[in-house]
Order: sequence, then C-alpha cells, then structure tokens
Amino acid sequence: MSDLHSILLGAGCFWCAEAILKDLQGVKSVQSGFAGGTLKNPSYKDVCTGTTGHAEVVKVVYDSQKITDEDLLGIFFTIHDPTQLNRQGNDIGTQYRSVVFGNKTQQKVAQKLIQTFESQKLWAAPVVTALEDETVFWPADESHEDYFARNPENQYCAAIVAPKVAKARKMFRDRLKNR
Ligand SMILES: *[C@@H]1O[C@H](CO)[C@@H](O)[C@H](O)[C@H]1NC(C)=O
Repeated sequence: MSDLHSILLGAGCFWCAEAILKDLQGVKSVQSGFAGGTLKNPSYKDVCTGTTGHAEVVKVVYDSQKITDEDLLGIFFTIHDPTQLNRQGNDIGTQYRSVVFGNKTQQKVAQKLIQTFESQKLWAAPVVTALEDETVFWPADESHEDYFARNPENQYCAAIVAPKVAKARKMFRDRLKNR
C-alpha cells in the first residue's frame, strides 16, 4: 500500500535539494523547478534575474507510509540554512529563499518542527522559512534533471553541492534507498 503526497520545497539551489532528497526511502520522485512568482512558465534565466518572484524549488512526491511529513520536512530543514533570508551562502536573491509550499496539514507539521528546532537552539538565528499554500509548479527544463549526478565536474557542483550531498548521505545513511 502506498499513500502518495506531494510538496514543493525551496532550499536554495535546487540541484542540491534534488540530489539529496531523491536518495531517501519513500521518495518517489524529485523534480527541479520554480514556484511562487508571477511569470508563467519561467526559464532558469528568467528566475536567475531574481525579479520574477519565483523560488527555486523541488517537487517531491513521497509515500507517507514510508516517509512521514515530519521526517521529510525535518530533513529539509537540516539540508539548508533556514535562518538565511533570501539567500543560501553565496547564492543571494529571493530565488534562493527558504520556503515550503504545502497544504495546511504540511504547513502545520513544518510550523511545529520550526518551534521544536528553535527551542532546541539548532540554529543561532530565528528561522525565516516561509510557509505558503500549494501553488503552481513550473518544471525547469530537462538539462536540470539529475544535474549533480550528470555534471559532477561543474565548478559549483564540486564546490557547493558535493560536500552538502556527502554530509547529508552520512547524516541520513539509514534512510537511503541503496544502503
Ligand atoms: C494535505 O494533503 C494530504 C494528502 O496529500 C492529506 O492527507 C491531508 O488531509 C491534506 N490536508 C488538508 C488540510 O487538506
């Protein structure tokens, strides 16, 4: 039996989030794209200008029998820095904002996790992740599919994505599909 749900997660550069989340047990698919802006069917170039209002997001389809909202969102919060407003490290702009587009149930779970993590002082600064209603997802063109796996020599991938993915794989080793 499976119980498929979907959610849009913005955690900065979508290449990172895709590479990490698609390895998790219970995650059926992860697709890179854009959400939350004004322009219809935006291109990567459009979104990179930072003026369309979109965030880089991944659409995650998951089986809640195998990975709960809480587990998935808990991992989302630890694979990026949710205290940085409109940036992740050197990636600066609203397109890199930390955001969850989900239904009310998913938003409530996220809100609870934020409270818990803040009370545990997981981060030195307050969480700025925006919790927003489900919205239109615009897939990025297919050159972004499996980007990290297909472009390991890309400078950004080698410098930024690879260490994040390695760290996440270590941290969530027991949750990976191919252990
Ligand atoms: C959110 O979606 C899930 C299924 O994807 C469903 O189980 C849940 O009841 C929904 N919550 C609301 C408030 O619509």
